[in-house]
Amino acid sequence: MKAIIQKRYGDESTLHLVEIDDVKVVKPDDILIDVHYCNVTAGDKNINTLSQPWYLQILIRLVFGWNKPRAVVRGICGSGVIAQVGSSVTGYKVGDHVNFINSMKAGVAAEKLILNDKSIVSVLNPKVSLQEAACIPFGFLSAYHFLNESTLSKSVDVYLYGASGSVGSAALSLAHMFEANVVAVASAKHHQQLSSIYSQPILDYQTQDVFNLNQKFDVVFDAVGKIQRKQITHLLKPNGKFLSIKSVTKEDKQRLAFLNDCLLHKRIQPIIEKVVDLVDYKEAFAHAYRGHKTGNVLIKVKNASI
Ligand SMILES: NC(=O)c1ccc[n+]([C@@H]2O[C@H](COP(=O)([O-])OP(=O)(O)OC[C@H]3O[C@@H](n4cnc5c(N)ncnc54)[C@H](OP(=O)(O)O)[C@@H]3O)[C@@H](O)[C@H]2O)c1
Repeated sequence: MKAIIQKRYGDESTLHLVEIDDVKVVKPDDILIDVHYCNVTAGDKNINTLSQPWYLQILIRLVFGWNKPRAVVRGICGSGVIAQVGSSVTGYKVGDHVNFINSMKAGVAAEKLILNDKSIVSVLNPKVSLQEAACIPFGFLSAYHFLNESTLSKSVDVYLYGASGSVGSAALSLAHMFEANVVAVASAKHHQQLSSIYSQPILDYQTQDVFNLNQKFDVVFDAVGKIQRKQITHLLKPNGKFLSIKSVTKEDKQRLAFLNDCLLHKRIQPIIEKVVDLVDYKEAFAHAYRGHKTGNVLIKVKNASI
């Protein structure tokens, strides 16, 4: 099978598209997936490039491999179709459309992927586009950790800083679903694409004083981890909350299933900046590594994609 591998940490030049042995169902709880789309994310950047402060580099090396990623085949989330299941698997069957995130073991940037029935994998209604489904397990799952039923409801005032990336655009879509009132901040080049999910004017942090507002908010969410609480304290209502993507999030199967249902019923809408063919994988990784993408960048792994 074709796979994108990495044998040392570094930029996109350390990634290679190669032919390797097919992965196979070995254990009774294995699930074999034909990968259709691999979503290239900030998570890939953080692990693959080690472009982090020294203390986080140490943590990443300890968790993912000291000198090189332990999981040679890269790619952490995406969507596809189940090709085979092990003898003890009950919740999944051949032909099921699924999306998934496999941060620890990666392996998604390949034609075939082995997960198991405990992995963060969720069955999709076949009406759901596999392109859009590939956007849910990273950006939406992360944003939903912060913007959910416990923090948002109708008419809650939300200040969304960094509404343009995969987390930020998902946060914007979730806030819309919960009928919150949103003031969104993103640089101008993203505004047109974001207008498909948000009709109000967006503040541009590059040309405007975006913290100088005569309005107070119930929730301030920093979706890009670029601001500090002291910059926005004056924007919070007395019981207002400051939430930052810098906090640890939870990858949860039930939440993924809930978000997939929202996608099916068009309550949320992913933003896809571009979809590249497998051979153009370096372009996708390089773009994600630069950190300026709009929503999601996908690699189309399978030719006959749905
Ligand atoms: N805690 C967790 O578990 C968790 C989970 C997911 C993601 N994250 C982190 O969350 C961050 C965002 O992830 P992502 O997937 O959304 O990244 P992404 O898709 O790469 O997007 C990053 C976005 O941030 C914008 N941006 C860059 N500098 C900015 C600034 N100073 N102010 C406002 N916007 C700025 C970029 O646009 P422009 O530069 O063009 O303005 C780009 O649209 C990453 O650092 C990622 O590692 C953490």
